[in-house]
Amino acid sequence: MPIRSRIIGLGSYVPERVLTNYDLEKMVDTSHEWILDRTGISERRIASEEEATSDLAYLASQIAIRDAGIKPGDLDFIIVATVTPDMLFPSSACLVQQKLGVQGIFAFDISAACSGFIYALSVADQYIKSGIYRTGLVVGADAFSKVVDWTDRNTCVLFGDGAGAAVLQADSGNSGIISTHLYSDGALWDLLYVPGGGSRNPPSEAMLGNRLQYIKMRGNETFKVAVNTMSEVIKEALKCNGLTPDDIKLFIPHQANLRIIQAISKKLNVPMERFKVNLANYGNTSAASVPIALYETIREGKIEKGDYILLEAFGAGLTWGAALIKW
Ligand code: ACO
Repeated sequence: MPIRSRIIGLGSYVPERVLTNYDLEKMVDTSHEWILDRTGISERRIASEEEATSDLAYLASQIAIRDAGIKPGDLDFIIVATVTPDMLFPSSACLVQQKLGVQGIFAFDISAACSGFIYALSVADQYIKSGIYRTGLVVGADAFSKVVDWTDRNTCVLFGDGAGAAVLQADSGNSGIISTHLYSDGALWDLLYVPGGGSRNPPSEAMLGNRLQYIKMRGNETFKVAVNTMSEVIKEALKCNGLTPDDIKLFIPHQANLRIIQAISKKLNVPMERFKVNLANYGNTSAASVPIALYETIREGKIEKGDYILLEAFGAGLTWGAALIKW
């Protein structure tokens, strides 16, 4: 039997503060009806002033480690997928390592926006199935509320904060990550980006005055690319493994917009009941969206041993990807 990476523990964390569509009505020119109708989102969670991405990631990780029945000291590596790190450096993964109190291992971040968790899962899977490392922690965590322009109704209604974590371990059984499929297209970088704060537009009064520290997005174009890329990568993951959509117990897509998921469901001719949807409560939590949805799915007891689930996401970069898992 080849070595597979199996998910042996899951965790998630969302901040306490709830921001509803009605709250947003008081902040920008929008309405609960517009947001619900165009996105499916009702409310989202917002990190406090004291909370940064590594705090969310740490809390989700603690739950995942407990769920796995291991100790932090059993980990060989930590990968955090985020585009809203606490600081430019060090990585949020190193901060999670410090909070967990583990030494003698390695930790690093992956930047692939909303596809980040699937990218991180794929990297962790390569380490584990090659036999180099045995146990790894993979986290998707983002605090988009910190980079959202709260005066821009085109973007501020879409996002929320959160974290999801998974512990992966080498296993010689049948279950685990079967395949991962990753893509990016840098030519589409300007569909979704934060221009300021990096080396292109370092912090300055002019940078802040021009509001370059906030997300810029071409929503309509992003929507179309999201539907196409996610549908194609799902088809590829199925074809690669000789499966059809009927073989998949549940599709767990990135939770950006209900209409994106509905369009994929239509394109693949798979009923919406076979897609996990929780975006009404959290909005788009970027790298946290897929692992939070996965955590909830498993908690709900909908997946049995031997079932196939397919994770899929797209995000800034642009990046997209899928991961086929046999539970
Ligand atoms: N409230 C009320 N009206 C609004 C709002 C709002 N919050 N936002 C936009 N509008 C208006 C627009 O100004 C526009 O008005 P106009 O016709 O007078 O110009 C009108 O509504 C329609 O705007 P559209 O952009 O055409 O609306 P659309 O139906 O495309 O929905 C949305 C916009 C929700 C942003 C959609 O395009 C979308 O979800 N795109 C994908 C975005 C996405 O997923 N981004 C995350 C990527 S993942 C990552 O890496 C983070």
